[in-house]
Amino acid sequence: MSFYVALLLAEPIFLPNFEVENMKKVIIDCDPGIDDSLAIMLALNSPELEVIGITIVAGNSPAEMGFRNAKKVLNFLGRLDVPVYVGAERPRVREYVNALDTHGEDGLGESFLPDVPEQDIPEQSAVEFMSKALKGGDVSVIALGPLTNLAKLIDSDLDAFLSIERLVSMGGNFRSHGNCSPVAEYNYWEDPDSAKVVFDTLYDHHRMIEMVGLDVTRPIVLTPEILEDMKKKNPVVGDFVEKITKFYFKFHWEWEHIRGCVINDPLAVAHFITPDILSGIEAFTEVETGGISMGQTVVDSMGFYRKDSNACIYTQVDTAAFWDLFLPRILEIRR
Ligand code: RIB
Ligand code: CA
Repeated sequence: MSFYVALLLAEPIFLPNFEVENMKKVIIDCDPGIDDSLAIMLALNSPELEVIGITIVAGNSPAEMGFRNAKKVLNFLGRLDVPVYVGAERPRVREYVNALDTHGEDGLGESFLPDVPEQDIPEQSAVEFMSKALKGGDVSVIALGPLTNLAKLIDSDLDAFLSIERLVSMGGNFRSHGNCSPVAEYNYWEDPDSAKVVFDTLYDHHRMIEMVGLDVTRPIVLTPEILEDMKKKNPVVGDFVEKITKFYFKFHWEWEHIRGCVINDPLAVAHFITPDILSGIEAFTEVETGGISMGQTVVDSMGFYRKDSNACIYTQVDTAAFWDLFLPRILEIRR
């Protein structure tokens, strides 16, 4: 029996067929980045989503490296049709601090995948693309990196920013400790000034951000057992995931004594698709931009400031529901 027939018989995987008109248009703003790459794989294998573009922001990787890494993932998926635009190369105010210590010197777990040939950086910038794409309405943004591009969009085209249907951001933390300081999470720590601009603008215009922070991403651990099962069920995809996560596994063991790696960004995509995977509170939230708590999301859960909520802060995650959504879709990828 051929391998593929065996695979198909192994475990029937049925994904809902979606009519195009039910698909939700999304822009993925990211800093690939290992977990960003897994999030892109999930998004592009979810029939509910139409990824109309990927915008790159400096974060885990410098922007140009992030562009190349996004192309590598799209190439693996056979989806080089998805346009990728480059945005901010540095935070709004601070010095740029990458996270290559976590994501490897190539930003993709030192998998050192070859660059995809003939993939030039488009003339159109990420913010110009966002400005045009959002104007039509009915487009959401799933932000998986620092919010630098979104703050620039506010500067240059506030109407476009306010046209975002849903804004989901992997970032911040409420009761969970930080990962860049005792109180700050990387995306908002790397560019706290942009995060503040985004949260304050949402408050000023009575809008909300759906903040998928460390409180709910920390329990999402890709363990060696899950990875082995993925490799059995789909060796091609399993090997790709192993290639880009092995460095991340080592980092997590050395720094947090976790067996496996926390895959933050795919949870933001899963939440967008199935919001009831997460639950939490609505609260007025501000981002601290300086001092020892720079990058901290200060969540006014008790209403001290008597201000309207500008954020949904997620505190509970149904981890089983996440894996039930993530694994079948990733394993359904055929290369
Ligand atoms: O703190 C985790 C977040 O920062 C994730 O989005 C990771 O990719 C990095 O961007
Ligand atoms: Ca990210």
